[in-house]
Amino acid sequence: MTLGISDTIPELKRMLALNPDTCLVLEHNGRVVAGVMGGFDGRRGLVHHLSVAPEFQRCGYGRALMEELETRFRGMNVVKYSLWIEPRNQSVIDFYNHIGYELRDLITFSKTLRQ
Ligand SMILES: CC(C)(COP(=O)(O)OP(=O)(O)OC[C@H]1O[C@@H](n2cnc3c(N)ncnc32)[C@H](O)[C@@H]1OP(=O)(O)O)[C@@H](O)C(=O)NCCC(=O)NCCS
Repeated sequence: MTLGISDTIPELKRMLALNPDTCLVLEHNGRVVAGVMGGFDGRRGLVHHLSVAPEFQRCGYGRALMEELETRFRGMNVVKYSLWIEPRNQSVIDFYNHIGYELRDLITFSKTLRQ
């Protein structure tokens, strides 16, 4: 995954403050081994940075986190949620295809407002 200007501690704290029930970590013996950040903008959900530590991959943790996040979005009556994946990250595309997500043929635009 690519970390960017929104992954500093202050930015992450802001994400957590706004989305306290949809930013999740999974612990193993007191150590955080996986996490995902879900956000809700009032209309749609957006998922950022699902990640499982390499030595814990293929143990079901990625699926478990996405299932828990989905349960929470449902509890908030969210209609739909999305996520972005860089095209070169083929293994993650394969993962989401495998666990039942729909690939959309969309183009993403963005504008950076500050560094
Ligand atoms: C993608 C990622 C989160 C998957 O997490 P994981 O814990 O290894 O996945 P799981 O063990 O929960 O796998 C769930 C299912 O998907 C399958 N799967 C996992 N990775 C797969 C892959 N690369 N290709 C195809 N299937 C895959 C598993 O076999 C499993 O199938 P099953 O439930 O039918 O047995 C993890 O590989 C990762 O952290 N990658 C690096 C970080 C990253 O790039 N994140 C994306 C940011 S946008």
